[in-house]
Amino acid sequence: MSKYNKLAGKHVLCIGGTKGLGRGTAEASIEAGARVTIAGSSQHSADTAVSEIKALYPSATIAGFGCDLSHDTVEQDLDALFDKAGGDVDHVVYTAAPGLAISGLQDVTPEMVRRTSHMRQVVPLMLGKVAARRLPRTPEASLTLSTGGIADNPRPGWALMAYVANGLVALTRNLALDLAPVRVNAVEPGFVDTALWRDLAPQAKADMMRAIADKVPTGVAGRVEDVAEAYVYLMKDRNATGEIVKTRSGGQLV
Ligand SMILES: NC(=O)c1ccc[n+]([C@@H]2O[C@H](COP(=O)([O-])OP(=O)(O)OC[C@H]3O[C@@H](n4cnc5c(N)ncnc54)[C@H](OP(=O)(O)O)[C@@H]3O)[C@@H](O)[C@H]2O)c1
Repeated sequence: MSKYNKLAGKHVLCIGGTKGLGRGTAEASIEAGARVTIAGSSQHSADTAVSEIKALYPSATIAGFGCDLSHDTVEQDLDALFDKAGGDVDHVVYTAAPGLAISGLQDVTPEMVRRTSHMRQVVPLMLGKVAARRLPRTPEASLTLSTGGIADNPRPGWALMAYVANGLVALTRNLALDLAPVRVNAVEPGFVDTALWRDLAPQAKADMMRAIADKVPTGVAGRVEDVAEAYVYLMKDRNATGEIVKTRSGGQLV
């Protein structure tokens, strides 16, 4: 086994691996020699992503499954996903999330809080519960969650997302104790140009990305292939648990 390429021969399960950061992490894991299983909200989207990834990496060992996590049966749905993945998963990366539409404080409703919290709080907690039973009990195994830069940098109109993002930070740190010796960490991205922003009109999204590029020190919003490195790092570093790795274009400085 390679001393530094610790993902070679490992089995990585990317929940939310059909698009965006999960897709990038799946591709990076393949480049590092891992076997990959991806999950999306439907079998159709998983099949589409698998064939696109296969076209890029013809010798990859990859499978894809639909697993809609929006229901209250999430614990059973996650157990079923681990069964389909083959029961020998070493690392779990969770990036699944519905499209993000930010609305001002005066538009927030209890239903919106429940909907936003489901995929970003209920599912990650249930995933921690399932992963505690399913991952091998070793620091070589890991669960990596996703939060967001809003956890550290409040913005007017973003109270709900700041609340949820900080909840994910607390969840990550506590799960690191609950799952020990399995490691639990989270990636905190700034703005990245992904399908997360699909509910914005194309012009509004382009304007937002341009405004971010004009403001941040790197001069560009995050790219998937860069932010995916943070997920790969957290899978590989057996010394990292309870950590939040931030990759934010320097947006925290301005
Ligand atoms: N992009 C950013 O600017 C940014 C910034 C800060 C934090 N983050 C956080 O990073 C994480 C990943 O974001 P991303 O940009 O990669 O998002 P993305 O490109 O929109 O990908 C979201 C993934 O979630 C899956 N998904 C959506 N609904 C689902 C459901 N009901 N059940 C199962 N899977 C479902 C999608 O699968 P299908 O395609 O099959 O529906 C897709 O694979 C999120 O937690 C996000 O909040 C992102």
